[in-house]
Amino acid sequence: MSFWNKLRKPFFAMAPMADVTDAAFRALVAKRGKPDIFWTEFVSADGLYYTREVKKMKDEENPLMRDLAFGAEERPIVAQVFSSKPEMIAYAAKLAEKLGFDGFDINMGCPDRTIEKQCAGAALMKDPERAVELIRAAQEASALPVSIKTRVGYNKESLDEWLPPLLEAHPAAITLHLRTRKEMSLVPAQWELMKKAVEIRNRVNPDVLLIGNGDVQDLDDARARVSESGCDGAMIGRGMFGNPWVFAGRKSEDTPLAEKLAALLELAHGFEKLSPPKHFAILKKHIKAFVTGFDGAAELRAKFMDANSAHDMEKIIDAATPLI
Ligand SMILES: Cc1cc2nc3c(=O)[nH]c(=O)nc-3n(C[C@H](O)[C@H](O)[C@H](O)COP(=O)(O)O)c2cc1C
Repeated sequence: MSFWNKLRKPFFAMAPMADVTDAAFRALVAKRGKPDIFWTEFVSADGLYYTREVKKMKDEENPLMRDLAFGAEERPIVAQVFSSKPEMIAYAAKLAEKLGFDGFDINMGCPDRTIEKQCAGAALMKDPERAVELIRAAQEASALPVSIKTRVGYNKESLDEWLPPLLEAHPAAITLHLRTRKEMSLVPAQWELMKKAVEIRNRVNPDVLLIGNGDVQDLDDARARVSESGCDGAMIGRGMFGNPWVFAGRKSEDTPLAEKLAALLELAHGFEKLSPPKHFAILKKHIKAFVTGFDGAAELRAKFMDANSAHDMEKIIDAATPLI
């Protein structure tokens, strides 16, 4: 029995987000309010194979292996990968199992052109047969439960065509980002489509869990959306920005500024420990999210933008403390 079957419904998951939900951010969230499921950033399955088997890169020097590192508190945790090649998916699934992951997720929704050019991510919505092959390859290669994260269609909503083949391949769960590929993130997520997805799921394969995703602000919002739509759980992405307390039920505005700055600093220290290192500029997304919504936020943010280390940030916070 996999962790998926043990979850109490409704459950709430951390969204996989490249350069956001790295080990440093996940550790921060784990301490402040755990989601029911952690997710890694996505990792290229082809890249894993190439760096480890062709280039023979040492794991401790391999950035892709860094992106698959996780702490003991971040459980259950699902590794997300992308590829269009069954043999690469099989390779990554075996590796994820060896690394001790609880689940294995295949990205079938990413609209990034570099991913789509490899016929991976959202491009798989145009090739359901290939998508099913990938699910089967992962299921055969490892004992990990396999899940899918996708969207409601490519150019237009096409749940009637896209969902049944996925459901028939019997993944443990499907996360639906309730927008099409074409919509990117430019329109509000269409949660009303989740009812239709639930109907299809109930008809084709009631055992598959359905997770809704898109624009969920906080836990109250997540609960309301799940209960209105009838899905099993919700996934929160941008709602975690600046609010690592979100899974403890806090709204962003409920946290005093000093506590936010302390969390940001802790994140910066954790970020610096990632090995091999990530460029410090990546942290700036978080800075923008934490340092907002109070008098003087813009000035403080501007100062942080010049910071190149956690130490720089600490000095800026110390200097600002009398003001906040
Ligand atoms: C910066 C950023 C990085 C993302 N990286 C990934 C990723 O690695 N894998 C994935 O499946 N989705 C990724 N997404 C999409 C999110 O997981 C999620 O589907 C999307 O943000 C909508 O949910 P939200 O409105 O709760 O943020 C990313 C989104 C953002 C904003």
